[in-house]
Amino acid sequence: MYQVIARKYRPRTFAELIGQEHVRTTLENAITQQRIAHGYILAGQRGTGKTTIARILARCLNCVEGPTPTPCGVCSSCIETSQSSAPDVIEIDAASNRGINEMRELRENVRYRPSRDRYKVFIIDEAHQITNEAFNALLKTLEEPPEWAVFVLCTTESHKIPTTIASRCQQFSFRSVDFHEVVGRMEEICKAEGIGAEPEALAVIAQAGEGSVRDSFSALDQAIACCGNTLTGAAVRDLLGMYSLASLERVTEALLSQQTAAMLEIVAELESAGKNLQQFCRELARYFRNLLVAKITGKETRLIPAAAPEQARMRDTSAQFSEEDLTRWLQLTLELYGQLQYSMQPRLHVELGLMRLVHAGRIKPIEEAIKALAAGGGAPAARPQAAAAPVRAASVTERSQAPYAAPRPAASSSGPSYSAPPARTAPPPAAAPPRPTAPAPQPAAPPVERSTAIEPGSTKEKLIAALHEMRSAMSVQAVEDSQLIESQGTVEFLAPRSAKLGLMAKDVEKALAQILGRAVRVKITIDETAVVAAPEKKPQTSEAEDEASLRAMAHPDVQRFQEIFPGSQVRGVRDLKE
Ligand SMILES: Nc1ncnc2c1ncn2[C@@H]1O[C@H](COP(=O)(O)OP(=O)(O)O)[C@@H](O)[C@H]1O
Ligand SMILES: [Mg+2]
Ligand SMILES: [Zn+2]
Repeated sequence: MYQVIARKYRPRTFAELIGQEHVRTTLENAITQQRIAHGYILAGQRGTGKTTIARILARCLNCVEGPTPTPCGVCSSCIETSQSSAPDVIEIDAASNRGINEMRELRENVRYRPSRDRYKVFIIDEAHQITNEAFNALLKTLEEPPEWAVFVLCTTESHKIPTTIASRCQQFSFRSVDFHEVVGRMEEICKAEGIGAEPEALAVIAQAGEGSVRDSFSALDQAIACCGNTLTGAAVRDLLGMYSLASLERVTEALLSQQTAAMLEIVAELESAGKNLQQFCRELARYFRNLLVAKITGKETRLIPAAAPEQARMRDTSAQFSEEDLTRWLQLTLELYGQLQYSMQPRLHVELGLMRLVHAGRIKPIEEAIKALAAGGGAPAARPQAAAAPVRAASVTERSQAPYAAPRPAASSSGPSYSAPPARTAPPPAAAPPRPTAPAPQPAAPPVERSTAIEPGSTKEKLIAALHEMRSAMSVQAVEDSQLIESQGTVEFLAPRSAKLGLMAKDVEKALAQILGRAVRVKITIDETAVVAAPEKKPQTSEAEDEASLRAMAHPDVQRFQEIFPGSQVRGVRDLKE
């Protein structure tokens, strides 16, 4: 009769175990020193050796040569314990015997001396399933155990064991068993069984086991049943629904070339091959995780459950991406995997999810975005100035000499048609350093300066006063820089671009309505030729702030931003030089 590998190769001594060294050493020492506790809790993932170690412990305690960490294996106690037929080793499956009656029986049983061996060992599997009453009964026993009683509670959910019980036991946490150790053990088993297995086949099986030795062994059984005495990587992968590195690499290739179409093709092929999409996503998430680890460690590592050549390939792939990219993709893939559990339309979800990966790769860190914005303007430092800085006529001339100058249309091409009031004489040009090397081209047209003077008693004066009252500094500045043209029901502002936002403020309309005693429509005409007068002196701090925010508001990038996000506000402006 065929015996499954997990049972046939269940370790009978500590030496045969793989992994769990910490449990093994502690128990070996305790046995050598004859310091045997009455209660043990073995907790951890399924298939990692809890029941196995509980039985080894029982053997150690009851071997005729014992207590010894190296039981003889030939005495009747050793043999019967391995076969689960020893009279003094009582195994209870709490999943099916979880009630108070079983525990009462157990309490009775405990009171009698062992029938043949040194200890009575009670192995309670799935111990977390015991009912509360049963736990209480157990507790009574643990509080005053007879010298011969040893309880071993095995559980996958140690947090469900009441603390009253746990505090009377020694606890051991079982870890998932290392990929490489599982592969190694399976190589030995295959050799013993006369089975030829490609290294990749065993790697795939161990990956499928996810650190559970039993699960890996079951998968190995399945592979042998299906493929016979020769296990190839491809056949095993097919059988277990796992994906080859090559098929996962198609995703990273599509990410590298940013091809959403390739992603759709991948999904189409998976579908037509009848693959489970959810499993694919899980594998993909693991793949990204491994790439991330490969990227971070940069060398072969036990942290990646894959053989050396595969790890080398992952390192090559990961070198083409940033840590941020890989992290983001891992996160998105995990999300996708989660969504698929509830999805009625898995295919659409996967298509969307994979396309999102492509797009997410385009998200640049904000530092890069800012750098790009700065670089894109040609002369980042000069742009805010050129756009709206207080410029006098002379500086305008100078500006047009600069190679990157004139982001705005020339004066002649864009002046709105209206009858201009008498122009004010231009103020004397500021002392602009001459540029002897560059031949100065003529400016397109001399800038026209129009009156923005404030006549006493005028609407403009009243408006400015009202806005002052409202502490609407930005609007005050804007109105000062503009000309007011009043007509029936409308007040038109002829204004430089920099004043636009200040004039758009609700305050302006409100103040005008108050002054004129009726509702008015505010019309803003941008006068591209208008130049804003520079303040004569270095302004006081608060005015400097206003001025700075005015300049900031007039910056083309800020204006674009406000167009994209209507209603957004500039909350503060800081001069980086300060
Ligand atoms: N640490 C281990 N070393 C070697 N084999 C193991 C180990 N853990 C589990 N196994 C194998 O898996 C099978 C199931 O292990 P078991 O101890 O019953 O797991 P658990 O009780 O933790 O669920 C064993 O029969 C054995 O073949
Ligand atoms: Mg078990
Ligand atoms: Zn023995």
